Amino acid sequence: MKRRLLDFLACPTCASDLTLSAEKEEGAEIIEGLLRCAKGHAWRIAGGVPRFLAPAAELSVLQQKTIRNFGDEWKTWDDFGWSDRGASDITIDIFRYKVLVEKGELAGKLVLDAGCGNGRYTKAARDFGGEVIGVDLSDAVDVAFRNMRDDDKIHIIQGDLFKLPLKKGVFDFIFSNGVLMHTGDARRAFLSLVPHLKIDGAITVHLYHKGNLVYEFNDWWMRAITTRLPLSMMYKAANAFTWVTTRLPKTFVDYGLNIFFRAERHPHYVFDWYTAPIATHHTYPEVYGWLKEAGLYLTHDHNITRYPWRRFILPFQFLTVRAQRQKPLKDPEHTLR
Ligand SMILES: C[S@@+](CC[C@H](N)C(=O)[O-])C[C@H]1O[C@@H](n2cnc3c(N)ncnc32)[C@H](O)[C@@H]1O
Ligand SMILES: [Zn+2]
Repeated sequence: MKRRLLDFLACPTCASDLTLSAEKEEGAEIIEGLLRCAKGHAWRIAGGVPRFLAPAAELSVLQQKTIRNFGDEWKTWDDFGWSDRGASDITIDIFRYKVLVEKGELAGKLVLDAGCGNGRYTKAARDFGGEVIGVDLSDAVDVAFRNMRDDDKIHIIQGDLFKLPLKKGVFDFIFSNGVLMHTGDARRAFLSLVPHLKIDGAITVHLYHKGNLVYEFNDWWMRAITTRLPLSMMYKAANAFTWVTTRLPKTFVDYGLNIFFRAERHPHYVFDWYTAPIATHHTYPEVYGWLKEAGLYLTHDHNITRYPWRRFILPFQFLTVRAQRQKPLKDPEHTLR
């Protein structure tokens, strides 16, 4: 943890400021130490990462499963998103598409990556010019910290979206890619992010969309099995599954199989989809309702129901919405490309 992060942290229990006692430092990083608030709540910094979790015995079953599953997943695919290390890349286009920002828009801005995993999107947001704080519940934070510790404008913390250890009203931009549907209450997780935005701040969320009835039924029974299997078996199953899908024509997999169930061509995506302890599916009207509740204005989305013909050629699996606190000057952009 860099000392500068202290400017943005707040006690997750009582929201007051924290003071730092460093015990071990390596260059600009505090590797071991303690963060304490005026009311006596104390949080450890361990392995360079401030940890804002309750003791293991007090965590909910979902929190424990999330920590175990996603921690394991991101330790296995620790370089996923780093093309220079032989993995697939988060390209400028992928980031623009999923996070709905343009290159340069984040320059000099404070950005929150809510549910950062191994930090692949944290790094992309940094490449887009932001100073970025990545927060995640799982041990993926250790991977994210290792991946990006040399960058003085990236900070990684372990904490829960429902109790963020961060000050309110400080972020210019918050994004959450593929996370809210894994929290057990996507609406409440979304609403807990919004107070951390500045008055002129913006937020993008990317989450699972509800599929057709057959797709939803297949997803229900398939995940009912796969989420009960040991992770070691699911690594093998994900590899076997992609052995098949990579031998089939890409268009057939993307636009054929995906009408009936979730099919992917990389084991990471298969493992991620079929092992996540919980994965809720949502609709645009539902998420527009959250925006209203939070007092936000929609500025961009990928709502393909506005282009009905697209329904027939594109699987309808993801949902992306960008909104802001201030009333926009122009109508929302429907940005699906
Ligand atoms: C599918 S991964 C996405 C990670 C990253 N955003 C990406 O796209 O690479 C979902 C992440 O959400 C995190 N997560 C789930 N529930 C959370 C919660 N309540 N608070 C913080 N992180 C959470 C998991 O630990 C996991 O790393
Ligand atoms: Zn406190």
